[in-house]
Amino acid sequence: MIRLDRLLSNRGYCSRSEVKDLIRHGYVLVNGEKPKGADANVDPATVTFEGEALDPGEGLILMLHKPAGYTCSHKELGEVIYDLLPERYSRRNPPLSSVGRLDKDTTGLLLVTDDGALLHKLTSPKYKVAKLYEVELESDLRGDEKALFASGTLVLEDEEDALEPAELSILDSRHVTLSITEGRYHQVKRMFEAVGNKVLRLHRSKIGELTLEGLPEGEFRELTESEVQLALKAQD
Ligand code: URA
Repeated sequence: MIRLDRLLSNRGYCSRSEVKDLIRHGYVLVNGEKPKGADANVDPATVTFEGEALDPGEGLILMLHKPAGYTCSHKELGEVIYDLLPERYSRRNPPLSSVGRLDKDTTGLLLVTDDGALLHKLTSPKYKVAKLYEVELESDLRGDEKALFASGTLVLEDEEDALEPAELSILDSRHVTLSITEGRYHQVKRMFEAVGNKVLRLHRSKIGELTLEGLPEGEFRELTESEVQLALKAQD
């Protein structure tokens, strides 16, 4: 049970002070009826806002098919990934954030959550969750990339620690997939820079064993518990 005004403000529907008016105008119902006051203690499952059940509470995990042109930031000018979600999601408490970041021009699978522990597991190199990228290159592969990326010895410019081994699969001389277990800054682009190439297009198609599975570009949906487990599937 939770106070109605706190519930609605935590889920981003309105500020606590607005709840009274919303009740008066019949926007907020509890068990189908007008509640007595904004301070009523309620079971969130019995509350509707404009006739709809409330969004899920804390522990929300969304998958988003990120289009190019959107930044993974709350602050950036221009379009940000949060513009692809209902506006009230940006007022939730605890706040939502993306699980790692994709560059503005990168497309594909992005998770967004308010679950700090999950976020840590999915981004920490310790858990070795593989992220699969589809890559289009400017120039033909030179031939040693697969062995070099797999070696665990490649050190990126301005870094000291070698990258963890990464698995390159070659589709043709300019199209590959790359599976990495870390998420260093611009990692995929910098790996190809290190071998004299340039990434033209980058799309993340998988996190762990989780794929976008028909989710159209620009759209999002909640993950089921079993899909969360798929995302957490680590490398063997
Ligand atoms: N590596 C990159 O270089 N960019 C991304 O967006 C993701 C991984």
